[in-house]
Amino acid sequence: MLFVSFASFVSKALLVGIASTTAAQAEDKLRVGLMLPYTGTYAALGNAITNGFKLQVEGNGGKLGGRTVEFFTVDDESDPAKATENVNKLVKRDRVDVLVGTVHSGVAMAMAKVARETNTLMVVPNAGADELTGPLCAPNIFRSSFSNWQSSYAMGREVAARKHKTVVTLTWKYAAGQQSVDGFKEAFEKEGGKVVKELTLPFPNVEFQPFLTEIAALKPDAVFVFFAGAGAVKFVKDYAAAGLRTSIPLYASGFLTDGTLEAMGEAGQGLVTTLHYADGILNAQNQSFRLRYAKAYKVQPDVYAVQGFDAAQLLDIGLTAAGGDVTRRAELQKAMETAQIASPRGTFTLSRAHNPVQDIYLRKAEGKENKLVAVSIKALADPARGCKM
Ligand code: BEZ
Repeated sequence: MLFVSFASFVSKALLVGIASTTAAQAEDKLRVGLMLPYTGTYAALGNAITNGFKLQVEGNGGKLGGRTVEFFTVDDESDPAKATENVNKLVKRDRVDVLVGTVHSGVAMAMAKVARETNTLMVVPNAGADELTGPLCAPNIFRSSFSNWQSSYAMGREVAARKHKTVVTLTWKYAAGQQSVDGFKEAFEKEGGKVVKELTLPFPNVEFQPFLTEIAALKPDAVFVFFAGAGAVKFVKDYAAAGLRTSIPLYASGFLTDGTLEAMGEAGQGLVTTLHYADGILNAQNQSFRLRYAKAYKVQPDVYAVQGFDAAQLLDIGLTAAGGDVTRRAELQKAMETAQIASPRGTFTLSRAHNPVQDIYLRKAEGKENKLVAVSIKALADPARGCKM
């Protein structure tokens, strides 16, 4: 009898202990690790993602899932060689609850490896590496952006629809460039086109002249490229200066012209691209997002800012369902998996591999905007090849 009441005293004390640990944890700050490029060719992309993420957190009273956010930041320099060391600064040294990053596909794959090994919750706010929602997919890894396949597949169809038969591709030689070309080629060749030559240069080189000379000699019907950030500006200016804009039409996924049009000036005008965002999307979320972003940062947002904003929205949904407790994984992940994200790009859901299922827009550069021309493909889902989840 005495034993029974002692046992029940112990179990009650344990329950109270667990409850107060959980309550104390919920009162602790949520440690969010931002691993993004703040220097180098993708610096502007890292800054826009950070701004978008913080805009959402600030609109939420500085909280995610009811917990005040404390930020830890690492500049990954878009350098895969430093990626494992950098992500460990956040996971091991700063003991973050959540990893948010990054822009560069190669760096993101190294981050995902550490996130998988340590079971750290991770949201990718840009990097399109097909592997992240393919063979490297995992219950704790989510993406608020796109897959490399997804954003260029639509352009393959558009270029074929314009009756171009031969295309030369040019990109940086790393996962994002290669997979963008693969996605483009898959759609373009399915429609009867032919990619006659695939040209590459190392990331982040910008010595484009020999490639422009080769393109001029090959005389394809059109050119498809993947470039982004500062390198995209240099490429578009060089393409125009070489006189190719008037002779060989240039197409790309929209990373070429997002956040770069002002710097490109006249050379960027009229460029046709496909992407999961366009400046003039008419929905209430986009209008309010653009106003708030411009007021807070005195610049117009771009796709990267949208992806950062949506990474924070997605985390807020998951953490709210888990009472702010990152260890309540089943509830947290289920809420994220089934979320309807009210994004400035239009509402999207996640695929079984945790990649956005989203509309891809056809856009045309006019002034400082990538104007919406049409929906190129509605609710496009990445094929998630190799994802076993
Ligand atoms: C990537 O490396 O995945 C990437 C970088 C910049 C823009 C889009 C994709």
